[in-house]
Amino acid sequence: MKTSTALILMLHLSLHTVDEGQAVDPSCRCIRYTSTYGKERGTFSSPDYPKPYSAHAACYMYTFIAGPHQIVELFFTDFDIYKENLDCTRGDFVKVYSEVGVHGPGPPVITEYTMWSRVLCGNRADAPPALYSHGPVLILELNVGGKATNATGFIGTFKFIDRRNFETDGVHVQDTWCDYVFDSNSNKLAYGRLYSPRYPSSYPNNIRCNYHFNARKNERIKLVFEELFLQKGDESCLNRADVIKVYDGRSSTAPVLSILCNEVVGYEILSTGHELLVQFTANSNIPGQGFKARYQFQMEDNENEDSLKASIDDSGSSFGPAVSAATSSCHQIFRSDKSKNGSFTSPKYPLSYLPNTQCHYDFLGKGRERVRLVFEDFSLQKVTGHIMDCDSTDSIDIFLYVEGRLEKMVSLCRNDLPKPIMSNGPKLSMVFRGLHSSGNSRGFKISYAFVTDYALKSGQQLLEFPCAFVFNSSERSRGFITSPNYPGIYPRDTECNYFFYGNRDERVRLHFTHFDIEGVIPCKAVSASDYIQFSSQMVDVESPRYCGQLNELHFTSKNNFLKLTFKSNDRLDATGFHADYIFLRDSEMHSMTMPEFADNGATTLIPILLWQIILIKFINIVLQYGDNMFENLKF
Ligand SMILES: *[C@@H]1O[C@H](CO)[C@@H](O)[C@H](O)[C@H]1NC(C)=O
Ligand SMILES: *[C@@H]1O[C@H](CO)[C@@H](O)[C@H](O)[C@H]1NC(C)=O
Ligand SMILES: *[C@@H]1O[C@H](CO)[C@@H](O)[C@H](O)[C@H]1NC(C)=O
Repeated sequence: MKTSTALILMLHLSLHTVDEGQAVDPSCRCIRYTSTYGKERGTFSSPDYPKPYSAHAACYMYTFIAGPHQIVELFFTDFDIYKENLDCTRGDFVKVYSEVGVHGPGPPVITEYTMWSRVLCGNRADAPPALYSHGPVLILELNVGGKATNATGFIGTFKFIDRRNFETDGVHVQDTWCDYVFDSNSNKLAYGRLYSPRYPSSYPNNIRCNYHFNARKNERIKLVFEELFLQKGDESCLNRADVIKVYDGRSSTAPVLSILCNEVVGYEILSTGHELLVQFTANSNIPGQGFKARYQFQMEDNENEDSLKASIDDSGSSFGPAVSAATSSCHQIFRSDKSKNGSFTSPKYPLSYLPNTQCHYDFLGKGRERVRLVFEDFSLQKVTGHIMDCDSTDSIDIFLYVEGRLEKMVSLCRNDLPKPIMSNGPKLSMVFRGLHSSGNSRGFKISYAFVTDYALKSGQQLLEFPCAFVFNSSERSRGFITSPNYPGIYPRDTECNYFFYGNRDERVRLHFTHFDIEGVIPCKAVSASDYIQFSSQMVDVESPRYCGQLNELHFTSKNNFLKLTFKSNDRLDATGFHADYIFLRDSEMHSMTMPEFADNGATTLIPILLWQIILIKFINIVLQYGDNMFENLKF
């Protein structure tokens, strides 16, 4: 073991300064990488990599020292450290010290009192994609426990990067830790960047940062969260301790435009007016990396046709090369500034459109608005026989903006009137391709609206959430609820909450008459599922989720409050739900004749599925053996 360590040290010695001591455990071997010799990047690895590291108990310290304006960035290209338990306290492990200060000249010192930022063990998936220091120093301490394993250790690259690349462009508000103001004025650039504290290193916990945007009267604020890594998982943001709330106005009394949590990439926000407030709150125990975002003060109508069309043409070849010349005549942009609703038709409607017609329609809303399209007439090319998709026929393609890119949501063709469509944000694009035409197709008539109520027809909408509705027993003791855009398919990337408030001795009972939520058990991100969840408290991560297709579902609340959360992801769609609700006093509960098999959430789904399976099995048996069964019954 001695010789192999010596070998490794000699290998590193040729590249870096090596010194010993300065460690918690003086027996630690120290390997240092500094930027003082003009070396801004390089690789580092565990002893003997890629052969398994020695099984003898040992400790290795990797110290990375950047220049005064720099921070350290590490990427593991491979990571395999023997993991004995989940929190890496036994077996082998790597301690990461990312908050080491530099005090005076000489190498940074860590002592037994220095707090490490995290401990790593396991395989590549257990290691973070990248590590960043808070200051100029980062230290890795590899501890080998002494158990014989075949773990190969790690190899990675380090880089010293300029910390000034991550400075927020606003003006820091005096006497606050992380509040910034961004004013628009003619002397300054109309755009800039903002970051969570300490980005790209993880943010501290128990903080609240306010980012105030003040545009001029005829301007709006466009904000794009390029990357946002807070807590891992797919919980509702109502259950999260680390969240970003975006208010569509000056203060936190303004309507909430968005609540962001978990991990989000490429999320765009457009203010309704000339003020916007972004509030970042972090109270979880394990802070994430944080966010990076860019902002722009835009003149109203600044997104002119050229730039919009360019962005569409850039982002997908799906429109084909023949777009430009042929489409200009029927290219239309609908802005919510101009009109909140209206209708449009295919060229020459209700007469047949000409062959080779291609039209673009772009819808530009802002703030909380969503685009909703309702088809009033739909008569495209008649196709005989069976077709798998709409590619080779006349069709309408609907595009959404997902992670900053245009993505086709659906293609519509033939003559069946499509159900209403709703966008996942304030923008939507549509392309009509009338390649063939034919004398007896009329084309289409569509009415559009920029809606803020998600086309929900019941409940009282709250402004404190992007999509939340209250059902208050004192105001209505019975009624119905639906998913957003019902009976059309529900929008992607959408969370809506339904809050039921009963009187003191009341509970609410729900009877779903339609239930179609895209997903499979356990209705989580691992199964790429949309879901609904019932909770008896505002914050609740424990309650079971429901998804899939059910003929019927009954649910009764545990007490006089019920939160129903509906959450969709950014792929695949379904038609959602419709449910009747009624508030009942405990004494009335049992006199109702509603089926009682679903009082307890967790057991509902499985019994229904089981019964369906048993029923289908039984029908199959009857179909197979039915004749014989009945014959045997004959006398
Ligand atoms: C390591 O690998 C060798 C050869 O593949 C195997 O014989 C040995 O049992 C392994 N040891 C451990 C601790 O997994
Ligand atoms: C369009 O909006 C106006 C006012 O905003 C409203 O009166 C009208 O009913 C709407 N029309 C449709 C078709 O929704
Ligand atoms: C329910 O409605 C009653 C009567 O209008 C009102 O006093 C109460 O505050 C409402 N409760 C909630 C939670 O909105």
